[in-house]
Amino acid sequence: MISENERWVLSFYRTSEISGSLFFGRLARSLKAGPIQHDMTKHYADEAMHAWYWTDCLNKLGVEPLELGNAYQDQYLAAAGMPVNIMEILAITQVFERRVINQYAVHGRTHGIHKLVKSTIDRIVEDEKWHIKWIRDALKNMESEYGKDTIDDTVERFLQADREVYEKTVREHQERVGELILK
Ligand SMILES: [Fe+2]
Ligand SMILES: [Fe+2]
Repeated sequence: MISENERWVLSFYRTSEISGSLFFGRLARSLKAGPIQHDMTKHYADEAMHAWYWTDCLNKLGVEPLELGNAYQDQYLAAAGMPVNIMEILAITQVFERRVINQYAVHGRTHGIHKLVKSTIDRIVEDEKWHIKWIRDALKNMESEYGKDTIDDTVERFLQADREVYEKTVREHQERVGELILK
């Protein structure tokens, strides 16, 4: 029902959602009680569900997920350096979540998309919108502590890393991602 390239792409999304969930799950475990802990816990649970939706979607399309190595996020840390405080963690997450939602939007618009893939994307994107919102609000609240300029500079640094990693990924997997590339 789907091509090998599509199977690879959906497996890539699944792996990426699992990595996101594990990353935020560890954070949620170590944060002290408060609004960030609250939202981070929901966030990590959402990403775990997204990984499940892709697993289920692939199965319903008659295939198993592929086992892929490094997730996209791992390359982020290599390109941008490890975030050193909670503000930097939220900044890198904000950049990453924007990338995710844009990628899903492009994929959701592709011609001839299977309706099961489309409905999975639509379901996930609803959660991703909230991810972007809560992090934007949390970063805004941190302006008094870190300074708006520092936060903006941090986001900009991670945006550059994001562009590098995205371009590298696209170059490496050109034949698989085809029309799913963001211009
Ligand atoms: Fe997600
Ligand atoms: Fe997300």
